Amino acid sequence: MVTGAAGFVGSHVAEAFADAGHEVLAVDALARSPAPELARRTWEQVTARPGVTGLEVDLAVDGLDAVAAADVVVHLAGRPGVRSSWGAGRAAAERDNVLATGRLLAACMERSVLRGVGDRPPTGKRSGPRGVRGRTPTRKRPARPLVIVASSSSVYGSAGHRPHREDDPLNPASPYAVSKVEVERLAGLAARDGLRTVLLRYFSVYGPRQRPDMAFHRFVEAALDGRPLPVFGDGRRSRSFTHVEDVVAATLAAAGADLPPGIAVNVGHPEAVAVRSAIGMLTGVLGVRPEIRREAPVAGDAARTWADPGRAERLLGWTARTGLAEGLADQIAWHRALRAREVRV
Ligand SMILES: NC(=O)c1ccc[n+]([C@@H]2O[C@H](COP(=O)([O-])OP(=O)(O)OC[C@H]3O[C@@H](n4cnc5c(N)ncnc54)[C@H](O)[C@@H]3O)[C@@H](O)[C@H]2O)c1
Repeated sequence: MVTGAAGFVGSHVAEAFADAGHEVLAVDALARSPAPELARRTWEQVTARPGVTGLEVDLAVDGLDAVAAADVVVHLAGRPGVRSSWGAGRAAAERDNVLATGRLLAACMERSVLRGVGDRPPTGKRSGPRGVRGRTPTRKRPARPLVIVASSSSVYGSAGHRPHREDDPLNPASPYAVSKVEVERLAGLAARDGLRTVLLRYFSVYGPRQRPDMAFHRFVEAALDGRPLPVFGDGRRSRSFTHVEDVVAATLAAAGADLPPGIAVNVGHPEAVAVRSAIGMLTGVLGVRPEIRREAPVAGDAARTWADPGRAERLLGWTARTGLAEGLADQIAWHRALRAREVRV
């Protein structure tokens, strides 16, 4: 089960599980997306994929029967975004991050502790890797699913002279970051009750289908329109920009790993790059020299996010492989492909 499957990260994760031969229940509310039109288009692509079943449901109010069929729940549904969380997005962050995650975890905890391999899921719907259904039960396995929960580098606040490690103190600086800390706490409580939860702290993800409110998306669209690039602050902020294919690889690795319940793992590129350097690369790939339009810095936006990838390397055998220039070229190709089909996002 992949929640948030109409979204940026969730759509890639759902497709990757399906491509790896798993049966995927893709879940999303669509109308809860900050970009509902893009979510609808993405949803149509994802649910057309062989092996993917779509379920449109709002996890803050419904849809929890669906967890009965899942061996692994990858919970990517939620309301992202630091900037919007100071305004109208704040209630959405509380509802779609904290409330929805709490309900989902409770539903997973309600499942009994063991079931036999081959027991049919209550809905009788497809579940888990192909080939498991219908076998004679020979051994017991956990009936409760492994639950992988999306967290964020924003729980750390800003990095100092070294990258953030998972056991660093948390220092959230925006309502969004506070909601993610709360999500982490809920997952920790569920882990204490024996639910296998894993927290993946994603760092500034980019690539095809990136959300329209995110920096590279805004920069590429502005550059392709011939408009000045809207930059919050002076461009000195730096980020462990991480390509979505690397994020997918880490997420799939977490689904296959035997990790201690409640553990947090950084999913971030080990190099922090300044926004203005990234703009230099991006405009280099585009072959343009656009103007920059400076906008007021966003409260709570970390001066630097920087991932220490050591735990991910040790426990998941994962490291980010995509360099920024290569990854940006990939994202730009996606924007161009949409425009060629006269789709604006
Ligand atoms: N993109 C990043 O750089 C990044 C970084 C750190 C953490 N994250 C986290 O990763 C997750 C995915 O982020 P994204 O960028 O793909 O966001 P996204 O907005 O593209 O996708 C989230 C999806 O969740 C769905 N959703 C929201 N509330 C829902 C609800 N109540 N019930 C069902 N579906 C609901 C939305 O419709 C949307 O399609 C989020 O939890 C986000 O906080 C993302």
